[in-house]
Amino acid sequence: MKLLLLGARGQLGWELQRSLAPLGEVIALHRASTPAADLARPQDLARTIAALAPDAVVNAAAYTAVDKAETERELAFAVNGKACEAIAEAAKSCGAWVVHYSTDYVFDGGGERPWRESDATSPVNAYGASKLAGEQALAGSGVPHLVFRTSWVFETWGQNFAKSMLRLAAQREQLRVVADQWGAPTRAALIADVTAHALRQVAGVAGAQDKSGIYHLAAGGETNWHRYAQLVLEQARAEGLPVKVRAEAVEPIITADYPVPAKRPANSRLDTTRLRQTFGLALPPWEDGVRAVVSEIAAQARERTP
Ligand SMILES: NC(=O)c1ccc[n+]([C@@H]2O[C@H](COP(=O)([O-])OP(=O)(O)OC[C@H]3O[C@@H](n4cnc5c(N)ncnc54)[C@H](OP(=O)(O)O)[C@@H]3O)[C@@H](O)[C@H]2O)c1
Repeated sequence: MKLLLLGARGQLGWELQRSLAPLGEVIALHRASTPAADLARPQDLARTIAALAPDAVVNAAAYTAVDKAETERELAFAVNGKACEAIAEAAKSCGAWVVHYSTDYVFDGGGERPWRESDATSPVNAYGASKLAGEQALAGSGVPHLVFRTSWVFETWGQNFAKSMLRLAAQREQLRVVADQWGAPTRAALIADVTAHALRQVAGVAGAQDKSGIYHLAAGGETNWHRYAQLVLEQARAEGLPVKVRAEAVEPIITADYPVPAKRPANSRLDTTRLRQTFGLALPPWEDGVRAVVSEIAAQARERTP
């Protein structure tokens, strides 16, 4: 199988390079690659896809700066929305599947029940709206696709909340973290492994088109940012990382006490039943991923300073 991976240097793209390798040839491109793989230049991107003629395009590239998207709306829609149209058309022409990733932020965050794929979308910020445009472009094109909506992505590599907490806890005596937004922190390695597992069941498989569609993909269980921060700090302390703040001392605050440019949904819980049943999967609890990533970060720190 020939796979074209876009966004190879992001949290998820990095992990996909590892997880997709056993499936066949992986051509891993990033924004500055030759051939062109800049999602802000859709025509060049379409030419790249046509020239490489892969069996599947796996798009891990995205405009992910949630707050900046409020003022860079056009760029966010170009990268997260328009580029998906180009990817979909080019992939369709060469008979390829498209794997793409979306977000819990397509929902408005109301209620407390985990969101199902069939629930109505209603994004509350520009990033969410731009990601929804990407989903709709794929669905409208008729290309066979897997869109994985995920939440609160973190990994040892890249920028994320867990790493921000480690950095801040090493510098400050106090931390205040929002405790009224609910979801599941999801390790990029888990998303990458699920992607490989699902792709194996669809790409080049006769009759697999009925699996085309949207799937919710998040770690098991639920939490809020405050409890998530506490677990990061507990594990960091256990691993000997420098933390000045004890987990019990992290102050829970409400969303209104932490103003940011983009509104966040309060309920980001995702119901993963469809994914688990369709692909025969079990998803590990979110705590497993957090503990493992903090342990790996600590091991990397020990390697740097023997
Ligand atoms: N992070 C989260 O919490 C979260 C939550 C829900 C869903 N998701 C979705 O999950 C997917 C993976 O996210 P992630 O966490 O891996 O994001 P990430 O670490 O921010 O990686 C995104 C990658 O996309 C690249 N990119 C941005 N603009 C590009 C362009 N014009 N052309 C080519 N590449 C471009 C970035 O490159 P540069 O480094 O050069 O900018 C970066 O390598 C995305 O679809 C995202 O929307 C993420």
